[in-house]
Amino acid sequence: MSLLRLAYVSTCAPGLSLDDVYKIMRVAHPWNVENGVSGMLCWSGEFFLQCLEGERRTVTTLFKNIAADARHADVEIIVAAPTNTRWFGEWGMGFSRLMASHRLDLPSGRGASFNPYLLEAVDMESTFEQLSQLAQRLSIE
Ligand SMILES: Cc1cc2nc3c(=O)[nH]c(=O)nc-3n(C[C@H](O)[C@H](O)[C@H](O)COP(=O)(O)O)c2cc1C
Repeated sequence: MSLLRLAYVSTCAPGLSLDDVYKIMRVAHPWNVENGVSGMLCWSGEFFLQCLEGERRTVTTLFKNIAADARHADVEIIVAAPTNTRWFGEWGMGFSRLMASHRLDLPSGRGASFNPYLLEAVDMESTFEQLSQLAQRLSIE
């Protein structure tokens, strides 16, 4: 069965802390595992970049829920496309915290500092591959 992969960027609500992000992860991880959704959430302090992959209806419903969440704004879809493979098969939801010192090497050459609104669909595979290297495997009790 074909899956849907959806990646979006958003701007964090003012004052959102690492603790708030862990709170999101503690809900997201078990829900995603239970519902066959894999992906990665990247947080830079200012922006979120998230990839979700799973059954089309599940991903669509989840995304509508996420997009309405007051903990971020200016949600913009970068890509939503059918796929037969998962990039994040082993994670319900990987998490990577991007620091100012991290430099993403993007094919477009625009990746000196992390402004995910500049990313395009063609950049997604390379971006998430690099973010996976930084990802933390969260152990959730
Ligand atoms: C940036 C961001 C990413 C999120 N990612 C997920 C996710 O992958 N899975 C999930 O279940 N909830 C995620 N959430 C939380 C949802 O928005 C929502 O709070 C959660 O699905 C619980 O929904 P409910 O309060 O309607 O029960 C995310 C929230 C934000 C702000």
